[in-house]
Amino acid sequence: MRASFLVAPMYVAMIGVPVLMILYVISYAFAPLICYYVLLPLIVLGLFIFGVTGFFEVYASTSTRSPLLKMESDSISEFKDVKLAEKHEIPIDLVVTRFNNHTKKLEKQTYKSGASRFTTVLDMLLNAKSEGDQTLSFRYSCRMGICGSCGMVINGKPMLACEANSINNVIEGKIEVGPMEAHPLLKDLVTDFDEFFNKHISIKPELYRNDKKEQYAAQHEYQQKQSQIEEFLPYSYCIMCGLCMDACPVVNTNKDFIGPQPLSQAYRYYKDSRDELGKKRIESIDTLDGIWGCEFAGACSKVCPKGVDPATAIQLLKNEAIKGDIKKE
Ligand code: SF4
Ligand code: FES
Repeated sequence: MRASFLVAPMYVAMIGVPVLMILYVISYAFAPLICYYVLLPLIVLGLFIFGVTGFFEVYASTSTRSPLLKMESDSISEFKDVKLAEKHEIPIDLVVTRFNNHTKKLEKQTYKSGASRFTTVLDMLLNAKSEGDQTLSFRYSCRMGICGSCGMVINGKPMLACEANSINNVIEGKIEVGPMEAHPLLKDLVTDFDEFFNKHISIKPELYRNDKKEQYAAQHEYQQKQSQIEEFLPYSYCIMCGLCMDACPVVNTNKDFIGPQPLSQAYRYYKDSRDELGKKRIESIDTLDGIWGCEFAGACSKVCPKGVDPATAIQLLKNEAIKGDIKKE
């Protein structure tokens, strides 16, 4: 964080004036001359400094010229020259790995672009597409990290393009973008999620009741205590972006491994007190391509944009399988 030349005097005046006032009151009885000729001018000077710096901050709080806001922006972005970034003057090369249908090879294509401190990689892709190359294909929808559509590999790491700040991801003046590799490539940055969804469906991602009639015509709501909700809530934030599957070294070497996303969801439903599939959920994934395929690399949890932590979920499932006592409380 960079210190502003105005911040220090503002805080010194803010603290100093009350201290001087207290000294004034205490020493007035036995040293009135010091009060008049030393403390009083200092108090007036302090009020003046506080007024000027305070006014500047209030005025500037609606503009980006505020030194305090600049400090904040420095903490948001590590980029050194915020002023340049605010004016959309940061030139960045967007290097996109695309599939060339003629040569049947992946090729890199560079788009000259620019970014402000709030520009995302998705914004840059949209710019590249609208300002010339309309053949560039990528998937997106919500632009706010909710739909999970815009997953891609940015500088070698699976990320959501709409959540990847451009300035923070620049390396030597460029950002490298490519398709996720764990999912079959369709075009440019668009990958096929059929297999991913099939694996997800295979773990039965819904609540099951023993009484089928009740399942489809419940007479009352299924109430849960807070402690019961907390058992599965962190795992229910999955947006099915597939980034964890792309980061997983086992998924990338063994296509039969069910993978971190479906397994984390198996745990999510297993721990839900409203679900009554219980033991059967564990049995269906207690295989070498199920929970035992996981080598606990942990890459899945590192890249998850929602903090789902599939790696931990899989170890907890292994624990349930080993225990043998998999009856739900
Ligand atoms: S667990 Fe995280 S990374 Fe994996 S699909 Fe769900 S949200 Fe995406
Ligand atoms: S566009 Fe929806 S998550 Fe990125």
